[in-house]
Amino acid sequence: MIEIKKITKSFHGRGAVFTDFSLTVDANSMLAVTGPSGSGKTTLINIIGSLDKPDKGEVLFNRRSILTFTADESASYRNRNIGFVFQEHLLMPHLTIIENIMLPLFANKITDEVYAEKVKYADRLMKRVGIERISDKYPAVVSGGEAQRASLVRALINKPAILLADEPTGSLDAKNADILGNLMVELNKEMGLTIITATHSPALADKMGRKIHLDREA
Ligand SMILES: Nc1ncnc2c1ncn2[C@@H]1O[C@H](COP(=O)(O)OP(=O)(O)OP(=O)(O)O)[C@@H](O)[C@H]1O
Ligand SMILES: [Mg+2]
Repeated sequence: MIEIKKITKSFHGRGAVFTDFSLTVDANSMLAVTGPSGSGKTTLINIIGSLDKPDKGEVLFNRRSILTFTADESASYRNRNIGFVFQEHLLMPHLTIIENIMLPLFANKITDEVYAEKVKYADRLMKRVGIERISDKYPAVVSGGEAQRASLVRALINKPAILLADEPTGSLDAKNADILGNLMVELNKEMGLTIITATHSPALADKMGRKIHLDREA
């Protein structure tokens, strides 16, 4: 599904983060990206999500290069294919949980019919992750674990092929981290969701089918 071929990536003042780095991620698989701070985990997530580009090399999604995309094509690729979850939930404080979850739908024009379908899908997902009771609450009054599960539902509302999670349990206590990690694994099995997660947590990494470890190059 994702093929990264011999990419090189440097930042000004940092030097090379990746040199001739290659990685293939199969559809429906789960991958944990581990490694020390500064080793390039977020950079790798950003490259796969078309938020950043390598200096050299190739990145293919379903055999098609994502490096030739214009800004609009990148946005459309992300909207159609990628769901993002970050360390902080990044929910909008002035919108309720359900409004936050529905937000990615408004990147495109949708019919009332599709909207109604998506409301049902959001309800189903919220039940699935156990947050149906907080649907009409604002982010400030829900727990960190609930907010992070809401951001997981938001990431999935457009039925992405890939979930990119950058330190998704980094702000959670052990119990909520465990709940979120287990849900990710279950959703991989239930929906065939491909999951790539950057994490410092050995517990989360152990839940994924495969682990790669990045080293700091410089
Ligand atoms: N936009 C940027 N400009 C300059 N340097 C950058 C930029 N983004 C990342 N870097 C550098 O690239 C290296 C890799 O950063 P990255 O954020 O990918 O690491 P990470 O593995 O995600 O670290 P952490 O575990 O702390 O999140 C770091 O040395 C970082 O300072
Ligand atoms: Mg990072």
